Amino acid sequence: MLSTKYDAIRAVIWAEMGVQFLDQRRLPEEETYQVATRASEVAEAITKMVVRGAPAIGIAAAYGVVLAARARFSESSLSWRQLIEADLCALAAARPTAVNLFWALARMRSRIKDLPDNVDPEAVLLAEAQSIHLEDIEANYQMSKLGAALIEGSANVLTHCNTGSLATGGFGTALGVIRHAYSKGQIKKVFADETRPWLQGARLTAWELMRDQIPTVLIADSVAPYLLGQGQIQWVIIGADRIAANGDTANKIGSYSLALAARHHGVRFMVVAPTSTIDWSLSSGSEIPIEQRPQEEILTLAGKAVAMPGTEVYNPAFDVTPADLIDALVTEKGVILQPNSNRMKTLLA
Ligand code: MRU
Repeated sequence: MLSTKYDAIRAVIWAEMGVQFLDQRRLPEEETYQVATRASEVAEAITKMVVRGAPAIGIAAAYGVVLAARARFSESSLSWRQLIEADLCALAAARPTAVNLFWALARMRSRIKDLPDNVDPEAVLLAEAQSIHLEDIEANYQMSKLGAALIEGSANVLTHCNTGSLATGGFGTALGVIRHAYSKGQIKKVFADETRPWLQGARLTAWELMRDQIPTVLIADSVAPYLLGQGQIQWVIIGADRIAANGDTANKIGSYSLALAARHHGVRFMVVAPTSTIDWSLSSGSEIPIEQRPQEEILTLAGKAVAMPGTEVYNPAFDVTPADLIDALVTEKGVILQPNSNRMKTLLA
């Protein structure tokens, strides 16, 4: 087990009154927690990206279901299971791409289905939400070891977006691998893409890595292919928001261009994600719904206009990296090298 030096941040915390979110819109300037006491507030926190990152969104939604059950049971101990449907729908509508949201809601829904009408459901649903949370942290620890085992010698790595404690139950997916590998002396330096437009890399990843005293170099996204061409980077390591059954991977916009540049320059490309991020119902990445974000994210920077008001904007939040550009998919159930539909099936065993 790693020292808590590398595992000290929790973005989602359950408390009796509700669920607390470390407000990711305010980092790194301010470390403030926002409390949601109702399911609608959890849905809003997800939509507004107070809480973000695929696994963290799923965990938040699970706690949102607990709050919904609390409110609906006190409204009607007999028909709370019908009433809670509206809350489940509102939570599901909060963001479209990260499948962990729908996966967590399906788990909570199957618990709800088994519960009797007139018994307070809160304890059972809270236990399920906490299991989802703890299992995610365990999966991250497991993936961190499996991913680090792929890194030879002492490497420089490049990462995109934020995949750390802030994006998960704790510790992180791609950032978990980086944390573990660094602690074992396998990583010299981490290059972090700033990740325009929301700046998850600049605001969140650099903050997490610097807190852990892991040597970090922040770069503009457009620098990455040039850097990969200089032979300075051995691995690109990213997370995922939804992985299709053939291994095609939706992740933060800019991941696809990184994968292309990595393949062109012979740099290996690793995707790290728990199996809760795999959507077995989709045969390829072309079926993954891609969130479109508000135009203000492109027209402004830190609240200041950087383009003519009224300029047409295209702002997809995610892109899809075809499986054949991925060298290794690391899950808690094992590593798939060069993923494709057949090799992915081994994760179902
Ligand atoms: O829009 P975000 O910040 O929620 O997007 C997050 C990402 O794309 C992450 O890379 C992904 O969720 C993996 S996080 C463990």
